Amino acid sequence: MSSPLHEEIKQLKEEKNAIILAHNYQPKEIQEIADFLGDSLELCIKASEIDDKDLVVFCGVDFMAETAYILNPDKKIVIPDLEAECPMAHMLPEEELIKAKKEHPDAGVILYVNSIAESKQHADTLCTSANAVKVTESLPHEKILFGPDNNLGKHVQKRVDKEIIPVPKGGHCYVHKLFHVEDVELKRKEHPNAIIICHPECNDDVQEACDETLSTGGMLKFIAESDAEEFVIGTEVDMITRLNSEIPGKKLYPLLEGAICETMKLHTLEKVRDALKNEAPEVVVPEDVASKSLKAVQHMLDASK
Ligand code: 13P
Ligand code: SF4
Repeated sequence: MSSPLHEEIKQLKEEKNAIILAHNYQPKEIQEIADFLGDSLELCIKASEIDDKDLVVFCGVDFMAETAYILNPDKKIVIPDLEAECPMAHMLPEEELIKAKKEHPDAGVILYVNSIAESKQHADTLCTSANAVKVTESLPHEKILFGPDNNLGKHVQKRVDKEIIPVPKGGHCYVHKLFHVEDVELKRKEHPNAIIICHPECNDDVQEACDETLSTGGMLKFIAESDAEEFVIGTEVDMITRLNSEIPGKKLYPLLEGAICETMKLHTLEKVRDALKNEAPEVVVPEDVASKSLKAVQHMLDASK
């Protein structure tokens, strides 16, 4: 894996004292040049530990880069393609959350990290799919307003002794909604020895039909530690790219080949090179929003320890 473009990226990275962070759903070419690859939680933790870098190139979607900014307001955070947005994160506008809080004044507020910064500032804490249950248990409240992903909310509801109130109604990830129980049944027939794993953003009945429900980081750990040889992966298809490079020798099949998060694929090597060279497009969160959201981000990081 070396070309003039790879060399240029390497040189620019050194020159600018930059780090490239990338989510597990990034295409292979980006995974290969990333300094750090991870799930949403691992990326948040990494973003809280980059004191020695001046520039962060975030190959993921908007809310991830925003969270990196909230944790590092003095650094330059750039995203190779500004159009890389997570539609789910935009399903809960600030006003709707404020309204829900007025309707449930006694409820604690937990937002999935997949939410916009303007809404994050009204949350008591955040969570990712890797720590949602732990974070929910860490709040003293009996009632929890939880959003925007209704499926992750249901996943948590089954595992905690609290009342989970979804906000907004119908918040979802279009990629994980593509999976159906029939897909799980088909894969069981095709690969009878495989362990079938899906993500908590999948519908409840799909989660029930699978053997395990795990975050993308959880999938990696589970497969690395398992003696089994075959796995069906029910999440975005490039998770298999990560798994294959990290844990060679396992047989991995996608639950659905068409499970593609389109905006995650907008980043390319050329755009990474340009982002490094131009230190743009920059991701900036208004100062007051960033400082108010930091409380919730920090609470999540502390609760995950
Ligand atoms: P994790 O990487 O936290 O499992 O989340 C997946 C996802 O859809 C991020 O948008
Ligand atoms: Fe958002 Fe779904 Fe893409 Fe994750 S996979 S970034 S939740 S649209």
